Amino acid sequence: MKLNINKETCTGCKLCETVCIRDNIIVVDKKAVEVDNGDCFDCGHCLAICPSNSISLKGFDGQKDRVGEYNPKEIPVSSEDYLNLLKQRRSIRWFKKKKIDKETFNKLFEAAYYSPSAQNAQDVEFVVLDNELDEFMHLVYDIISAEEDKFFRIKQFGEYLRGEGDYKNHPLLWEGHQMILAFSRNSANALIASTRLELFAYTMGLGGFYSLFTLKADELDHDRLMEFFPGIDSHKHMYSAFVIGYPRVKYRRTVPHKGIDVYYR
Ligand SMILES: Cc1cc2nc3c(=O)[nH]c(=O)nc-3n(C[C@H](O)[C@H](O)[C@H](O)COP(=O)(O)O)c2cc1C
Repeated sequence: MKLNINKETCTGCKLCETVCIRDNIIVVDKKAVEVDNGDCFDCGHCLAICPSNSISLKGFDGQKDRVGEYNPKEIPVSSEDYLNLLKQRRSIRWFKKKKIDKETFNKLFEAAYYSPSAQNAQDVEFVVLDNELDEFMHLVYDIISAEEDKFFRIKQFGEYLRGEGDYKNHPLLWEGHQMILAFSRNSANALIASTRLELFAYTMGLGGFYSLFTLKADELDHDRLMEFFPGIDSHKHMYSAFVIGYPRVKYRRTVPHKGIDVYYR
């Protein structure tokens, strides 16, 4: 059994029964009763919808502080503000030297923490690379140099690392010196969590860009890459690499976009 149901306060309104997609709750004699189908996946919709706050999830007792009460009639951000945030977001590659501290990172992870995930797996693991970023990028190069002939950027990266050529910026990191990686068994889980974190970062005066070439390391030699992260389940893949920092440039206007293809059928 996964739920604690307070029979005293339950009014038998049936909302929990309606929202449970696993049919794990039925209302009998005006009281919610848990049915043990063995497949409750802790989504918490029953406790989130309960008007009398009569349900709690077992095993999450230490996380009561994460349960917040909301007015279900109010949306906390106006659609206009949110659309403006989406429109104003620009990839940032030019950063101040100031580093993001742990407290600020933790706020970003709070934004990612509430992301949906397939089967409610909540399996995304993040790594913040700071002191070890340089070492990590050397490993990335060792792996992706296999495709040096295909991509001029990888060739430049090699030259930069060997001190050859006259590079103003790091060909992969530009002025970045901190990076957030997201690992998951499911690419969608990692990407959804990462984009939430990314957008929230902009509300905190931060910015960054996704680094495709870093992800290539996972594509080309997953096992070797994962040796760098012994604490992470090696069945997970690195699906997002976001270079992040305090922007040293500020953009003033939106730029033209090609338009989005939508088919209503
Ligand atoms: C999946 C993905 C990979 C990207 N990889 C890189 C990259 O390796 N290096 C880089 O400088 N920018 C990278 N970007 C940023 C894009 O180049 C950027 O979105 C594009 O220049 C448009 O600018 P905007 O994001 O400001 O609209 C990537 C973006 C995405 C979504």
